[in-house]
Amino acid sequence: MEFKTIIEPFRIRQVQAVRSTTRDERVVALEKAGNNVFLLKAVDVLIDLLTDSGTGAMSNEQWAGMMRSDESYAGADSYYRFEDAVKDLTGYTHIIPTHQGRAAERILFGAAVEEGQVVPNNTHFDTTRANIEVRGATAVDIPNKDASDTQSRLPFKGNMDIDELKTILDQWPDKVPMVMMTITNNSNGGQPVSLENIRAASTLCKERGIPFFIDACRFAENSWFIKIREEGNENRTPIEIAREIFSLADGATMSAKKDGMANMGGFLALNDDALAEKCRSMLILTEGFPTYGGLAGYDLESVAIGLYEALCEDYLAYRVRTVAYVGERLTEAGIPILQPPGGHAIYIDAKAWLSHIPQEQYPGWALTNVMYREGGIRTSEIGSVMFGLQPDGSEKFADKELVRLAFPRRVYTQSHIDYVVEVLEYINTLKDSIKGVRITKQPASLRHFTAVFETVE
Ligand code: F0G
Repeated sequence: MEFKTIIEPFRIRQVQAVRSTTRDERVVALEKAGNNVFLLKAVDVLIDLLTDSGTGAMSNEQWAGMMRSDESYAGADSYYRFEDAVKDLTGYTHIIPTHQGRAAERILFGAAVEEGQVVPNNTHFDTTRANIEVRGATAVDIPNKDASDTQSRLPFKGNMDIDELKTILDQWPDKVPMVMMTITNNSNGGQPVSLENIRAASTLCKERGIPFFIDACRFAENSWFIKIREEGNENRTPIEIAREIFSLADGATMSAKKDGMANMGGFLALNDDALAEKCRSMLILTEGFPTYGGLAGYDLESVAIGLYEALCEDYLAYRVRTVAYVGERLTEAGIPILQPPGGHAIYIDAKAWLSHIPQEQYPGWALTNVMYREGGIRTSEIGSVMFGLQPDGSEKFADKELVRLAFPRRVYTQSHIDYVVEVLEYINTLKDSIKGVRITKQPASLRHFTAVFETVE
């Protein structure tokens, strides 16, 4: 008999208490935090869906690996175990550890991207974009056109628009130092990219002699979607699919805080010898010696083990099903979300749900405040507060006003998830009374982390 309940595929052997607060306490805490949930103390949060980055629970195997770590400055055993794991998975020649994904990005772009150049990507994550722009280059997003409709239920809405890539390469044949593909496409709903699309981008880059890199943060979730959604892959294992993805590119940047199942870590992996040498020199300047790259030996161990755990079928089935379940419940309740649910998160379409709040009053941000006030749930806005402020200080509203509920890996159970759904169903009953917000203080860039807000009465 095959039972239909998909269980959490682990036993919980260590727990961290979470603290209930009253609505009045949360009103005060939010006020103190300038109505910016990034500025809350985590102890005041009941369910923290701010990010899936570095917030997961590690396994007994990972902790065991950490206990046997080697903290030698150079040539530590832990580095070689890490290198073996990353090489086994990616097949790349040079494995450069970094403290997290953005450090790998900064080093790669610092070594390979020059002023005036253009880097296309299905959709850049914000640190990826910022690390390109700081070089004086332009980061161009070329998501598949299907992705702009939040309601279309297509299997691979994370794809890159290959025609657009061709146009860019025709227009600027000498200006593109590399093409990147982000799997899954985090800024576009955590949607997966198909193997067919990765192959097409890879082939085009090879024809033009342009390096092709993967932003691999959620490579395991993406591999799982390929297995369950893309014809011809149903009998392959996630690791086989992942290996093929990496084999189609010249290298990858990785935040191991996601599908590395670690609390800290990342890497840059690549085949080009000369570029790797340049990257290692830059690594030494700010991250550390090339066999630790800003990480402790125990971090290297946790990643080396975590990369394989992220590829376990039981785990991936549970992971993706949890997110889909929330998506189904919210859809039944009439709460608009970006469809279909992504791999690591649900994205609520705040522009559609709170349609009475104009974009200049940031409906997504207002919703993050309400979710905290009513239910102690912390989420993040991916909308005009995050993307609206232009380098010249002007404001350009984002295409979408989304609120992301990102699920930490192996942390929350079914009842936590049911609670989140119940809070949102309640908010649905009072949504018309939700007010917009205005910014009273903001920094010059990356304002969502520190800006201060007030409610528009
Ligand atoms: N690329 C993608 C697609 C990401 O989602 C992130 C991080 C990074 C690169 C940078 O990695 O944080 O290790 O430096 N995303 C987190 C998030 C922060 O909440 O989505 P990092």
